[in-house]
Amino acid sequence: QPVDAFDLVIFGGTGDLAVRKLLPALFHRFVDGQIPAGSRIIGIAREALDDDGYRASLRTALIEAGGAKGQVEEFLRHVSYRPLDARKDEGWDAFAALIGEEPDHVRVFYLSTSPELFVDICNRLGSYGLNRGKSRVVLEKPIGRDLASANQINDAVGRVFDESQTFRIDHYLGKETVQNLLALRFGNALFEPLWNSGHIDHVQITVAETLGVGRRGAYYDRAGALRDMVQNHILQLLCMVAMEPPSSLSPDAVRDEKLKVLRSLKPIDESNAAQLTVRGQYRAGAAEGQSVPGYLEELDGGKSNTETFVALKAEIENWRWAGVPFYLRTGKRLPERVSEIVVVFKAVPHSIFGASAGPLAQNRLVLRLQPDEGVKLWLTIKHPGPGGLRLRHVPLDMSFAEAFGVQQPDAYERLLLDVVRGNPTLFMRRDEVEAAWRWADPILAAWSASGEAPRPYTAGTWGPSAAVALIERDGRTWNEDS
Ligand code: BG6
Repeated sequence: QPVDAFDLVIFGGTGDLAVRKLLPALFHRFVDGQIPAGSRIIGIAREALDDDGYRASLRTALIEAGGAKGQVEEFLRHVSYRPLDARKDEGWDAFAALIGEEPDHVRVFYLSTSPELFVDICNRLGSYGLNRGKSRVVLEKPIGRDLASANQINDAVGRVFDESQTFRIDHYLGKETVQNLLALRFGNALFEPLWNSGHIDHVQITVAETLGVGRRGAYYDRAGALRDMVQNHILQLLCMVAMEPPSSLSPDAVRDEKLKVLRSLKPIDESNAAQLTVRGQYRAGAAEGQSVPGYLEELDGGKSNTETFVALKAEIENWRWAGVPFYLRTGKRLPERVSEIVVVFKAVPHSIFGASAGPLAQNRLVLRLQPDEGVKLWLTIKHPGPGGLRLRHVPLDMSFAEAFGVQQPDAYERLLLDVVRGNPTLFMRRDEVEAAWRWADPILAAWSASGEAPRPYTAGTWGPSAAVALIERDGRTWNEDS
């Protein structure tokens, strides 16, 4: 659907996220004709740059994102830059006047800065009246670093922007496979009757990255994997797997159901964190065939108890899921970049095939978020040919690229236009963020009370061996053949 011309202002416009993700996403929408003439994209940061300097800093990233030179230049005509500091008056009058030039535009203020600046920026926007009319604010995760700071931010933002104008982004919700989970669960009669503790043995969610923290150390060291990935992305995935069928796809119907899941998470605290969680931190090793430094070497200070890996066993205490473990893991510098949700069904109650047929593998539904988005359903079949009834476990395999032959759009492409359209279905409501912190805070507290350092793992391995033990203790294994 086409949208009207809009203004999109990116605070943190020179940052990693803006340059690597947001601008390339907008560029791709532009190439598809979805950024109408008259739209303006304005980068904001403290650096003293002019429009040309800013455009020059984006050019390489856009060309790397697959842009043809001519298209990149055309797109960059929509892009400008303003140096502004949320904590200083200078430049704000002129900025307000610039935004005021197009009073009918939808105005999106994307806060891609550290959360400590959210309040100052919103207060400024409010004091210049830029919160009125068709204004929207996008808050990048993590929102705060615990429940208390999230509350403070949400209260302060809420004094300037109404909840209906506030878009808390979690880009995992914009990933194609995550939305496909909705289609798969609620558009087929096949799965939903089995989608419960009667038929599902356990669920695994893995978000593995090969990258280290690189230049993001200053942010990452204050966050760690639980705050950076689990509290938001992984819990959102868990919600999409576990929620009850919403009555419709209206924003609140979906978010009400997700909230119930978050509120049903079994608490993990000092009494059980040692059994249910594993923290790790990478040491020097190899990634993609190259030797790479350890986390501590990448940090200036050289000392840190921040986890770059976490594995944990979560449970949802409700009728549908009681007793079904959700094993979650994520880490930097793991052997491959892979994100997937694996739903493992219970074993058949009795095998009629005898010992020679071999053990019967459990059915598995694997939803691959990246790379190679797709869905695989692992089934047991007869090995073809004569020679008795030998069994094999093979996937019904639906690769999106093969089935639809198109490159899937990046999550930010969809979500940015959802903000312009004013559709918050795939964004987190305030109470969801808070419920997620309510679960995460006691885990963080338990870790810090224990005083233990995260377990070391070599870069390029699947994290500390304790993460394997976490699942194998229960007679299960991490999915390997997706
Ligand atoms: C971000 C995290 O939210 O997600 C990063 O802050 C992480 O640490 C990134 O690398 C992963 O996103 P994606 O889309 O590449 O899986």
